[in-house]
Amino acid sequence: MSQQAIILTGDRTTGPLHLGHYVGSLRARVELQHRATQFLLLADTQAMTDNVGRHQKVTDNVIEVALDYLAAGIDPAKSTIFIQSQVPELCELSMYLLNLVTVSRLERNPTIKQEIQLRGFERDIPAGFLTYPVAQAADITAFRATRVPVGDDQLPMIEQTNELVRRFNHTVGQEVLVECEAVLSAVTRLPGIDGRAKMSKSLGNSIALGATPDEISKAVKAMYTDPGHLRVDDPGQVEGNVVFAFLDAFDPDPAAVAELKAHYQRGGLGDSVLKRRLDVLLQETLAPIRAAREQYSADRGEVLAMLRRGTEKARAVAACTVADVKRALGLNYFS
Ligand code: TRP
Repeated sequence: MSQQAIILTGDRTTGPLHLGHYVGSLRARVELQHRATQFLLLADTQAMTDNVGRHQKVTDNVIEVALDYLAAGIDPAKSTIFIQSQVPELCELSMYLLNLVTVSRLERNPTIKQEIQLRGFERDIPAGFLTYPVAQAADITAFRATRVPVGDDQLPMIEQTNELVRRFNHTVGQEVLVECEAVLSAVTRLPGIDGRAKMSKSLGNSIALGATPDEISKAVKAMYTDPGHLRVDDPGQVEGNVVFAFLDAFDPDPAAVAELKAHYQRGGLGDSVLKRRLDVLLQETLAPIRAAREQYSADRGEVLAMLRRGTEKARAVAACTVADVKRALGLNYFS
């Protein structure tokens, strides 16, 4: 990847991050920050779109997600971490982009469709929620980001962003905004510990990035495996088996995991052996993250100061793009 790559990505601040976030994007961002200019957004404005009346939860979790970033190895000297709501230029840009998309196109966005179902909005969809893909396009384009590390559930957002970019540039007859590309990690999705496709705090099937050793062990013990694998000697299923999904994501020895899978399928390999291996791996992975999190957490004033610096820097960049957008639209009466 060239030095020039600009990365913009982030997370909704509805709760501390879990291992699904870590495997789906955070781990990649820690690597990418050495090779690109990275902006990391704490998406509190976006979190407001489906948390009406729960705004306190959203604002309380801004610092929690920032702590998760720092603990996982995001270095504020390399990545610019900033708070979405404190960059009003993003709202301004959203307003102009909103004219370039139809309501029906938004309703057809697969991520939105799925989320509407998940939240049971039915016909009562908050307009802010329906249009959040446009706000997300504003986030990405305000920084002229070329790469966006996200989980695969966010791919339709990238598609929608690029549609808006082409539409805007075509409308003004200039290349003002820049198209972007999604960056998917090798293992893009971790299932919930209960075997459901998606790990999520609200589904109660997640493991927090800051989980205690005890919480980790309990979660591993509770993990869904193969309900048909009753005796050790029985052949077992690898597909849909959460323990194997986790081993795929965390085990540094894929050849050993392949052997375990074959053994499990033949029969003769107990769940407890696999779970013990996974428990050790997760404990090793999360111990340094938890320790770092506790350290940062002891000095929240410093974390806030870091966020203020990052936000100021981000704001300056977004303001430049918005000025270009407004100029292209003729909205520059005084200059
Ligand atoms: N939609 C993302 C999520 O659900 C958060 C987000 C907001 C984002 N703006 C973004 C991600 C821009 C990537 C790029 O967590």
